[in-house]
Amino acid sequence: MAMLLNKNYFSFQIKRCFQRQQFSRVYTWYNGIEWKCGKRILKNVLSVLVGASATCGVFLYFLDRSVQAMGREAARSPKYPWDFEGYLTSLDHSALRRGWQVYRTICYTCHSLRYVRFMDLIDVTHTRDEAKAIAAEYEVQDGPDEEGNYYIRPGKLSDLLPLPYPNEEAARAANFGAYPPDLTYIIYARWNGRNYLFSLLTGWTEPPAGVSLTDQQYFNTYFPGNIIGMEQLSSSVTEHPTDFGMHTT
Ligand code: HEC
Repeated sequence: MAMLLNKNYFSFQIKRCFQRQQFSRVYTWYNGIEWKCGKRILKNVLSVLVGASATCGVFLYFLDRSVQAMGREAARSPKYPWDFEGYLTSLDHSALRRGWQVYRTICYTCHSLRYVRFMDLIDVTHTRDEAKAIAAEYEVQDGPDEEGNYYIRPGKLSDLLPLPYPNEEAARAANFGAYPPDLTYIIYARWNGRNYLFSLLTGWTEPPAGVSLTDQQYFNTYFPGNIIGMEQLSSSVTEHPTDFGMHTT
Protein backbone atom coordinates (compact mmCIF):
# COMPACT_ATOMS: atom_id res chain seq x y z
CA MET A 1 0.00 0.00 0.00
CA ALA A 2 2.77 2.39 0.93
CA MET A 3 4.48 1.63 -2.39
CA LEU A 4 1.33 2.17 -4.40
CA LEU A 5 0.68 5.45 -2.70
CA ASN A 6 4.26 6.54 -3.28
CA LYS A 7 4.23 9.48 -5.70
CA ASN A 8 7.61 8.58 -7.23
CA TYR A 9 6.56 5.10 -8.24
CA PHE A 10 3.56 6.45 -10.07
CA SER A 11 5.41 9.24 -11.94
CA PHE A 12 8.18 6.79 -12.87
CA GLN A 13 5.65 4.76 -14.85
CA ILE A 14 4.50 7.79 -16.76
CA LYS A 15 8.06 8.95 -17.42
CA ARG A 16 9.07 5.59 -18.85
CA CYS A 17 6.18 5.83 -21.19
CA PHE A 18 7.26 9.21 -22.47
CA GLN A 19 10.86 8.05 -22.85
CA ARG A 20 9.78 5.20 -25.08
CA GLN A 21 7.67 7.63 -27.02
CA GLN A 22 10.64 9.96 -27.59
CA PHE A 23 13.13 7.29 -28.70
CA SER A 24 10.87 4.96 -30.66
CA ARG A 25 10.94 5.18 -34.40
CA VAL A 26 8.38 2.46 -35.24
CA TYR A 27 4.89 3.71 -35.05
CA THR A 28 3.06 0.40 -34.43
CA TRP A 29 5.58 -0.78 -31.88
CA TYR A 30 5.28 2.53 -30.13
CA ASN A 31 1.53 2.16 -30.12
CA GLY A 32 1.78 -1.26 -28.56
CA ILE A 33 4.06 0.01 -25.92
CA GLU A 34 1.77 2.89 -25.25
CA TRP A 35 -1.17 0.58 -24.95
CA LYS A 36 0.68 -1.71 -22.57
CA CYS A 37 1.98 1.26 -20.69
CA GLY A 38 -1.44 2.83 -20.58
CA LYS A 39 -2.95 -0.40 -19.36
CA ARG A 40 -0.34 -0.66 -16.64
CA ILE A 41 -0.95 2.92 -15.63
CA LEU A 42 -4.68 2.33 -15.65
CA LYS A 43 -4.21 -0.75 -13.50
CA ASN A 44 -1.98 1.17 -11.15
CA VAL A 45 -4.38 4.08 -11.00
CA LEU A 46 -7.28 1.80 -10.28
CA SER A 47 -5.44 -0.16 -7.64
CA VAL A 48 -4.25 3.06 -6.08
CA LEU A 49 -7.78 4.39 -6.13
CA VAL A 50 -9.21 1.19 -4.72
CA GLY A 51 -6.45 1.02 -2.14
CA ALA A 52 -6.71 4.69 -1.35
CA SER A 53 -10.46 4.64 -1.07
CA ALA A 54 -10.31 1.55 1.10
CA THR A 55 -7.67 3.18 3.28
CA CYS A 56 -9.59 6.44 3.31
CA GLY A 57 -12.76 4.57 4.11
CA VAL A 58 -11.20 2.78 7.05
CA PHE A 59 -9.40 5.92 8.13
CA LEU A 60 -12.54 8.05 7.87
CA TYR A 61 -14.56 5.45 9.72
CA PHE A 62 -12.18 5.42 12.67
CA LEU A 63 -11.69 9.17 12.52
CA ASP A 64 -15.43 9.63 12.54
CA ARG A 65 -15.80 7.25 15.45
CA SER A 66 -13.10 8.91 17.48
CA VAL A 67 -14.40 12.39 16.64
CA GLN A 68 -17.85 11.24 17.62
CA ALA A 69 -16.43 9.89 20.83
CA MET A 70 -14.39 13.03 21.52
CA GLY A 71 -17.03 15.62 20.78
CA ARG A 72 -19.99 13.37 21.14
CA GLU A 73 -23.22 14.70 22.38
CA ALA A 74 -23.77 13.66 25.95
CA ALA A 75 -26.62 11.25 26.52
CA ARG A 76 -29.85 12.99 27.48
CA SER A 77 -30.64 12.35 31.08
CA PRO A 78 -33.98 10.59 31.61
CA LYS A 79 -36.76 11.95 33.76
CA TYR A 80 -36.90 10.12 37.06
CA PRO A 81 -40.15 9.71 39.00
CA TRP A 82 -39.19 11.73 42.09
CA ASP A 83 -41.68 11.01 44.78
CA PHE A 84 -41.78 14.66 45.91
CA GLU A 85 -42.98 15.94 42.55
CA GLY A 86 -46.64 15.06 43.09
CA TYR A 87 -49.24 17.70 44.06
CA LEU A 88 -49.74 16.42 47.59
CA THR A 89 -46.21 15.31 48.34
CA SER A 90 -43.30 17.15 49.87
CA LEU A 91 -39.58 16.67 50.26
CA ASP A 92 -38.52 13.72 52.33
CA HIS A 93 -36.67 15.31 55.23
CA SER A 94 -34.60 12.28 56.17
CA ALA A 95 -33.41 12.09 52.55
CA LEU A 96 -32.49 15.79 52.71
CA ARG A 97 -30.57 15.11 55.88
CA ARG A 98 -28.64 12.32 54.15
CA GLY A 99 -28.03 14.70 51.25
CA TRP A 100 -26.42 17.16 53.65
CA GLN A 101 -24.24 14.38 55.08
CA VAL A 102 -23.09 13.39 51.60
CA TYR A 103 -22.34 17.00 50.72
CA ARG A 104 -20.53 17.64 54.00
CA THR A 105 -18.43 14.47 53.93
CA ILE A 106 -17.72 14.14 50.20
CA CYS A 107 -18.62 17.00 47.87
CA TYR A 108 -17.46 19.75 50.25
CA THR A 109 -13.85 18.66 49.70
CA CYS A 110 -14.08 20.31 46.29
CA HIS A 111 -17.43 22.11 45.82
CA SER A 112 -18.72 25.18 47.60
CA LEU A 113 -22.32 26.05 48.50
CA ARG A 114 -21.41 29.71 48.72
CA TYR A 115 -24.93 31.14 48.91
CA VAL A 116 -26.13 28.87 51.71
CA ARG A 117 -26.13 30.03 55.34
CA PHE A 118 -26.14 27.63 58.28
CA MET A 119 -29.56 29.00 59.25
CA ASP A 120 -30.93 27.70 55.92
CA LEU A 121 -30.60 24.19 57.34
CA ILE A 122 -33.06 24.92 60.13
CA ASP A 123 -36.32 22.98 59.70
CA VAL A 124 -35.08 21.68 56.36
CA THR A 125 -32.46 19.17 57.37
CA HIS A 126 -31.84 19.96 61.05
CA THR A 127 -33.30 21.56 64.14
CA ARG A 128 -32.06 24.97 65.23
CA ASP A 129 -29.74 23.50 67.87
CA GLU A 130 -28.29 20.99 65.45
CA ALA A 131 -27.68 23.69 62.85
CA LYS A 132 -25.94 25.80 65.53
CA ALA A 133 -23.71 22.85 66.43
CA ILE A 134 -22.89 22.24 62.76
CA ALA A 135 -21.98 25.91 62.28
CA ALA A 136 -19.68 25.75 65.30
CA GLU A 137 -17.72 22.90 63.70
CA TYR A 138 -16.53 25.28 60.97
CA GLU A 139 -13.83 27.88 61.27
CA VAL A 140 -14.83 31.23 59.86
CA GLN A 141 -12.64 34.23 59.20
CA ASP A 142 -13.93 37.44 60.76
CA GLY A 143 -12.68 40.90 61.41
CA PRO A 144 -11.08 43.30 61.39
CA ASP A 145 -10.87 43.66 65.18
CA GLU A 146 -9.93 46.93 66.96
CA GLU A 147 -6.35 46.43 65.95
CA GLY A 148 -7.25 45.84 62.32
CA ASN A 149 -6.51 42.12 62.33
CA TYR A 150 -8.60 39.37 60.84
CA TYR A 151 -9.21 36.40 63.08
CA ILE A 152 -10.71 32.92 63.01
CA ARG A 153 -13.74 32.03 65.11
CA PRO A 154 -16.27 29.18 65.18
CA GLY A 155 -19.16 29.56 62.72
CA LYS A 156 -22.54 31.09 63.64
CA LEU A 157 -26.00 30.49 62.19
CA SER A 158 -25.83 33.71 60.18
CA ASP A 159 -22.57 32.75 58.45
CA LEU A 160 -22.35 31.61 54.87
CA LEU A 161 -20.83 28.15 54.45
CA PRO A 162 -17.06 28.64 54.23
CA LEU A 163 -15.52 27.87 50.83
CA PRO A 164 -13.37 24.75 50.46
CA TYR A 165 -10.82 26.77 48.45
CA PRO A 166 -10.04 30.46 48.94
CA ASN A 167 -10.48 31.22 45.21
CA GLU A 168 -10.98 29.70 41.75
CA GLU A 169 -7.24 29.51 41.06
CA ALA A 170 -6.64 27.42 44.17
CA ALA A 171 -9.57 25.16 43.27
CA ARG A 172 -8.23 24.63 39.76
CA ALA A 173 -4.70 24.04 40.99
CA ALA A 174 -5.93 21.30 43.30
CA ASN A 175 -8.05 19.67 40.57
CA PHE A 176 -5.55 19.54 37.70
CA GLY A 177 -7.03 22.59 35.99
CA ALA A 178 -10.71 21.61 36.21
CA TYR A 179 -12.96 23.89 38.24
CA PRO A 180 -15.49 22.28 40.57
CA PRO A 181 -18.44 24.68 40.21
CA ASP A 182 -20.46 26.04 43.09
CA LEU A 183 -23.39 23.70 43.70
CA THR A 184 -25.95 26.15 45.19
CA TYR A 185 -27.82 26.71 41.92
CA ILE A 186 -26.45 23.83 39.88
CA ILE A 187 -29.91 22.28 39.52
CA TYR A 188 -31.18 25.47 37.84
CA ALA A 189 -28.03 25.96 35.82
CA ARG A 190 -28.24 22.65 33.97
CA TRP A 191 -30.84 21.32 31.58
CA ASN A 192 -33.06 18.70 33.25
CA GLY A 193 -31.77 19.87 36.67
CA ARG A 194 -31.96 17.19 39.33
CA ASN A 195 -32.39 14.43 36.74
CA TYR A 196 -29.13 15.54 35.12
CA LEU A 197 -27.38 15.62 38.49
CA PHE A 198 -28.58 12.13 39.37
CA SER A 199 -27.55 10.82 35.94
CA LEU A 200 -24.16 12.54 36.17
CA LEU A 201 -23.43 11.04 39.57
CA THR A 202 -24.22 7.57 38.25
CA GLY A 203 -22.89 8.09 34.72
CA TRP A 204 -19.21 7.11 34.85
CA THR A 205 -18.21 4.34 32.45
CA GLU A 206 -15.14 2.95 30.74
CA PRO A 207 -14.25 5.13 27.74
CA PRO A 208 -15.22 3.65 24.35
CA ALA A 209 -12.54 2.58 21.86
CA GLY A 210 -10.67 5.51 20.37
CA VAL A 211 -11.00 7.79 23.40
CA SER A 212 -7.82 8.19 25.35
CA LEU A 213 -7.86 9.86 28.72
CA THR A 214 -5.12 11.25 30.90
CA ASP A 215 -4.81 10.14 34.52
CA GLN A 216 -6.94 13.07 35.62
CA GLN A 217 -9.72 12.61 33.07
CA TYR A 218 -12.72 10.36 33.38
CA PHE A 219 -15.51 9.36 31.05
CA ASN A 220 -19.06 10.26 31.99
CA THR A 221 -21.98 9.48 29.69
CA TYR A 222 -24.01 12.50 30.73
CA PHE A 223 -21.34 15.20 31.00
CA PRO A 224 -21.28 17.47 27.90
CA GLY A 225 -18.29 16.30 25.85
CA ASN A 226 -18.10 13.23 28.08
CA ILE A 227 -14.61 13.90 29.41
CA ILE A 228 -14.87 15.15 32.98
CA GLY A 229 -12.25 16.16 35.50
CA MET A 230 -14.25 14.73 38.39
CA GLU A 231 -13.51 11.21 39.51
CA GLN A 232 -16.25 8.64 39.99
CA LEU A 233 -17.60 8.82 43.51
CA SER A 234 -16.82 5.85 45.67
CA SER A 235 -19.58 3.29 45.67
CA SER A 236 -19.17 3.13 49.45
CA VAL A 237 -21.50 6.15 49.61
CA THR A 238 -24.38 4.05 48.42
CA GLU A 239 -23.26 0.73 49.83
CA HIS A 240 -22.32 1.83 53.35
CA PRO A 241 -24.42 4.92 54.04
CA THR A 242 -24.03 4.60 57.80
CA ASP A 243 -20.27 5.21 57.42
CA PHE A 244 -21.28 8.74 56.47
CA GLY A 245 -23.50 9.21 59.47
CA MET A 246 -26.54 8.51 57.30
CA HIS A 247 -29.53 6.63 58.57
CA THR A 248 -31.17 4.68 55.86
CA THR A 249 -34.68 4.67 57.28
C1 HEC B 1 -12.14 15.56 44.48
C2 HEC B 1 -12.92 16.67 44.04
C3 HEC B 1 -14.39 16.50 43.81
C4 HEC B 1 -15.34 15.93 44.64
C5 HEC B 1 -15.12 15.24 45.98
C6 HEC B 1 -16.60 16.12 43.99
N1 HEC B 1 -16.43 16.79 42.79
FE1 HEC B 1 -17.89 17.37 41.51
N2 HEC B 1 -16.49 18.17 40.28
C7 HEC B 1 -15.13 18.19 40.51
C8 HEC B 1 -14.47 18.83 39.40
C9 HEC B 1 -12.98 19.05 39.26
C10 HEC B 1 -15.49 19.20 38.49
C11 HEC B 1 -15.32 19.90 37.16
C12 HEC B 1 -15.21 18.84 36.11
C13 HEC B 1 -14.89 19.40 34.74
O1 HEC B 1 -15.21 20.56 34.46
O2 HEC B 1 -14.33 18.63 33.94
C14 HEC B 1 -16.74 18.78 39.09
C15 HEC B 1 -17.98 18.98 38.49
C16 HEC B 1 -19.17 18.71 39.12
C17 HEC B 1 -20.48 19.09 38.59
C18 HEC B 1 -20.73 19.92 37.35
C19 HEC B 1 -21.00 19.11 36.13
C20 HEC B 1 -21.37 20.05 35.00
O3 HEC B 1 -22.36 19.77 34.31
O4 HEC B 1 -20.69 21.07 34.81
C21 HEC B 1 -21.40 18.64 39.48
C22 HEC B 1 -22.91 18.81 39.38
C23 HEC B 1 -20.70 17.98 40.55
N3 HEC B 1 -19.35 18.04 40.29
C24 HEC B 1 -21.32 17.42 41.62
C25 HEC B 1 -20.64 16.82 42.67
C26 HEC B 1 -21.30 16.22 43.82
C27 HEC B 1 -22.80 16.21 44.04
C28 HEC B 1 -20.32 15.73 44.61
C29 HEC B 1 -20.48 14.98 45.90
C30 HEC B 1 -21.40 13.88 45.94
C31 HEC B 1 -19.04 16.03 43.99
N4 HEC B 1 -19.28 16.68 42.80
C32 HEC B 1 -17.82 15.70 44.50
C33 HEC B 1 -14.49 17.69 41.61
C34 HEC B 1 -15.09 17.04 42.65
